[in-house]
Amino acid sequence: MKQVILYCRAGFEADLALEIQTRAAEIGVFGYAVPVEGSAWVKFECYTDGDAERLIKSLAFEKLVFARQWFAVAAELENMPAKDRISPILAACQDLPQCDALVVEYADNDQDREMATFCRKFTVPLRQAMRGKGLLTAKEGHKLPTLHVFLQDSANGFVGISYPANASGDYMGISRLKFPSAAPSRSTLKLEEAINLFLSEKQREQWFKPGMHGVDLGACPGGWTYQLVSRGVKVQAIDNGMIDENLMATGLVKHIQADGFKYKPQPCPVDWLVCDMIERPDRVAQLMAQWLADGWAKRAIFNLKLPMKKRFASYQQCLEIIDLVLARVGSYTLKARHLYHDREEITLFLALDGKAT
Ligand SMILES: C[S@@+](CC[C@H](N)C(=O)[O-])C[C@H]1O[C@@H](n2cnc3c(N)ncnc32)[C@H](O)[C@@H]1O
Repeated sequence: MKQVILYCRAGFEADLALEIQTRAAEIGVFGYAVPVEGSAWVKFECYTDGDAERLIKSLAFEKLVFARQWFAVAAELENMPAKDRISPILAACQDLPQCDALVVEYADNDQDREMATFCRKFTVPLRQAMRGKGLLTAKEGHKLPTLHVFLQDSANGFVGISYPANASGDYMGISRLKFPSAAPSRSTLKLEEAINLFLSEKQREQWFKPGMHGVDLGACPGGWTYQLVSRGVKVQAIDNGMIDENLMATGLVKHIQADGFKYKPQPCPVDWLVCDMIERPDRVAQLMAQWLADGWAKRAIFNLKLPMKKRFASYQQCLEIIDLVLARVGSYTLKARHLYHDREEITLFLALDGKAT
């Protein structure tokens, strides 16, 4: 296999193309991607046969920020006849290892979204046919590879595989969350998605306990504060704006009108620092790293609002800033993702190793 297909938010193809080229080269896989603006997916073409599989096995998926999902391409599906689309797909899968899950997907862009119903309906007969041929196990699981059928329209697309231990567990890499009606802003979903993605179940249990303390920089109207409060955390909400009255009524929130760049927590340290300030990403990266280096917070989740152009370069610059501040203090864990609920920003988790617990 020579090609890897990756999904992203529409408009972020160039960033994803640059990112996959860079990260692949770091593990000795060389190739190129030609991004199509607005398509919501990127095809990375390796120079060497077999490298697509090597890439999706060896490069940790969680290292990628702009990719929602990926799979190695086994075959391109072209001009499938309307009266029998299943036979060409079965033929394309003959040499693949047995899979235990099948997903029929489409690109999350303005044109292809109308494929959603077709993909959902087509999954059922295709799954049956694959099981009949022994290409899919009788019971769905997440131990064997996942088979991806990615369709541009009802006649054309790609078929390939991903390894569930090194890919997104969500259909199309999209984490769909229900908006909590009591939350004061839709931004709340970003922090909820980040908590689900970055933290294990055990970490979520240990790191959110009633009576813990958190600081929310750029808190108003309170969507992120809502996530902390709903987990029992007492929040210092820093922002000159107006905060939601229902949040204040919980008795867990102290609203402080101050500049997030000058505020020092009380008590200190706090269990959580979260930050959604609309500020320059390099300034925010520096601030977050400094809070951890100074021991003001045990761990942080924050957004970096990236510029429209050169988002990947801007992210790399922020990584350097964080490393400059934290490397002298100790080793640290950093996770970053362009979340489904993010728009022009990415979300990061940061903690000094050993200090986060
Ligand atoms: C995107 S909104 C935050 C939304 C919030 N996370 C929520 O879920 O409701 C950004 C906020 O950052 C605040 N902000 C920007 N710069 C700030 C600063 N230097 N200090 C404190 N707050 C700041 C703005 O007032 C604004 O309310």
